Amino acid sequence: MSVYYMTHPLIQHKITLLRKTTTVTAEFRKLIEEIAMLMGYEAFADLPLTDIEVETPIETTTQPVLDGKKLAVVPILRAGLGMVNGILSLVPSARVGHIGLFRDPETHLPHEYFCKLPEAIDKRQIVLVDPMLATGGSAVAAVDAIKAHGGKKIKFMSVLAAPEGVSALMQAHPDIQLYIGCLDRCLNENAYICPGLGDAGDRIFGTK
Ligand code: PRP
Ligand code: URA
Repeated sequence: MSVYYMTHPLIQHKITLLRKTTTVTAEFRKLIEEIAMLMGYEAFADLPLTDIEVETPIETTTQPVLDGKKLAVVPILRAGLGMVNGILSLVPSARVGHIGLFRDPETHLPHEYFCKLPEAIDKRQIVLVDPMLATGGSAVAAVDAIKAHGGKKIKFMSVLAAPEGVSALMQAHPDIQLYIGCLDRCLNENAYICPGLGDAGDRIFGTK
């Protein structure tokens, strides 16, 4: 698996703001969207291009456009939803799928409750998004679900990751590309990322 750590100062700055307890829901949502957009810019640097002929007001010319079927953005519900518009601002024609997973508060194991992916998923570049990669259970289960539906080319984007989650995902799915905004220190006894940002879903949606 290829793992890419974001180094852009704007991404690091915005992640620091995200962590602050004093960052309120509206600011948190905006920051997650902006970070997803900046991470998407980095993660899409290897998208393949193809040449097409276009007519400018001056002449006919051959120029590059993105190749292949339209991208599929797939948020892991709920918190992944906060990253979707950031990606769509870069690639507005992308299709959007959804995978619903929640972590059992006791066992920390993921439970799937929803999965709906765009048609011809096997031919699309898939961008799976979730701000938090903690134990990695949710990410592994989401990639399992996508592969079970035929998905092959998968990029996973998380804003914060714990080393435990990176290892679990690398071991289960060595074929995917992983993009991480910031690698944090460890997990605590409740499997929360430290120093982290708390519960991403609750902070995006203002629950709790
Ligand atoms: C959070 C987060 C990830 C998962 C990460 O979701 O958004 O999906 O936990 O933890 P893991 O790597 O240990 O699996 P949560 O289950 O809290 O659901 P929510 O987004 O609906 O709040
Ligand atoms: N899910 C979250 O929202 N935050 C964490 O730190 C870990 C899992």
